[in-house]
Amino acid sequence: MLLELVSNIFIRDSILEILKRIGNAYSKYYEIKTNEKLCIFPLTKDVFKKSLDRLSEIQNKEDENLNGNVGVDIIKQICLNSISFKYFQSSSKFVINNISLNIPINKTTAIVGQSGSGKTTLIKILLGFYTPQKGNIYINGYNLESLFIDQWRDKCGSVLQDGFIFSSTVAENIALGTKRLDIDRVKYASKIACADEFISLLPNKYNTRIGNTGIQLSGGQKQRLLIARAIYKDPEVLIFDEATSHLDTENEKNIMLNFEKYLKNKTIIVIAHRLSTVVNADKIIYLDKGQMTEEGTHSSLLRKKGSYYNLIKNQLQNN
Ligand SMILES: Nc1ncnc2c1ncn2[C@@H]1O[C@H](COP(=O)(O)OP(=O)(O)OP(=O)(O)O)[C@@H](O)[C@H]1O
Ligand SMILES: [Mg+2]
Repeated sequence: MLLELVSNIFIRDSILEILKRIGNAYSKYYEIKTNEKLCIFPLTKDVFKKSLDRLSEIQNKEDENLNGNVGVDIIKQICLNSISFKYFQSSSKFVINNISLNIPINKTTAIVGQSGSGKTTLIKILLGFYTPQKGNIYINGYNLESLFIDQWRDKCGSVLQDGFIFSSTVAENIALGTKRLDIDRVKYASKIACADEFISLLPNKYNTRIGNTGIQLSGGQKQRLLIARAIYKDPEVLIFDEATSHLDTENEKNIMLNFEKYLKNKTIIVIAHRLSTVVNADKIIYLDKGQMTEEGTHSSLLRKKGSYYNLIKNQLQNN
């Protein structure tokens, strides 16, 4: 047992050491190439070092499921109860402040609010990436902390602001994380995400290599591919954090129409700024400096003439 532990640590540290050496050699090569003004790599020395540090951090992380022991059944309830969260224990200010919220099942909830109001943080808390210092999240009546977290995350498909495209084919990127690549399902997901058109124009269509070693996608194409990936997974809960922010309004509108048509039985949480994305949501919540200040539908919030009303008014004036 002890021998196995020591050898595991030795192997892990050796791998990290080798990676670090590759990193240093790579950095030297990168510097030479940069000096020669021949640099074509998007990866900088800094990014590479950060990746290695992150790798080491992940290696040292405790298995998250050690804390949970309850399996996750079909999702019937998602409830946030007086949640407060701050990134730093020493900070006096909560980034999320006393939020209580019921996410309606098989309906669409939109979260709006100014930049820095805590929208992404709230989603990451819901996915169990951060634990609130106060309050609890209940899934089907069970505290999120008591659940097998990977089972909960398996039920969720998310497109977060920092989504990643891997060096692989279009189809493999969409079917990421699944055992068998079902090309018909890949095409179906791409259609809903309005990605099928641009994919059909790529040199090898769904077999085109993309990512660092392949064709570079535009911001809007990348976002549509990430949406297709989330839909391919066919989860019960879909979470979109500014997933259409790089798209033109026409494409964004079409995606939302497809969601209404094809994703009827899904629980959708969408963070967006644009009116077209939120207007038909069953529930809209407005975050202001970590607090949920308004909650309702588009028409009820317009009648209220509060922050949501001003957000929409400003948007219409600027268009
Ligand atoms: N990893 C982090 N460490 C420390 N502070 C953070 C971290 N991520 C976000 N914050 C801080 O938490 C607050 C809320 O950030 P968050 O990203 O949740 O806002 P947001 O509403 O999603 O903004 P945006 O619309 O710009 O995406 C901000 O003050 C931000 O600076
Ligand atoms: Mg955000």
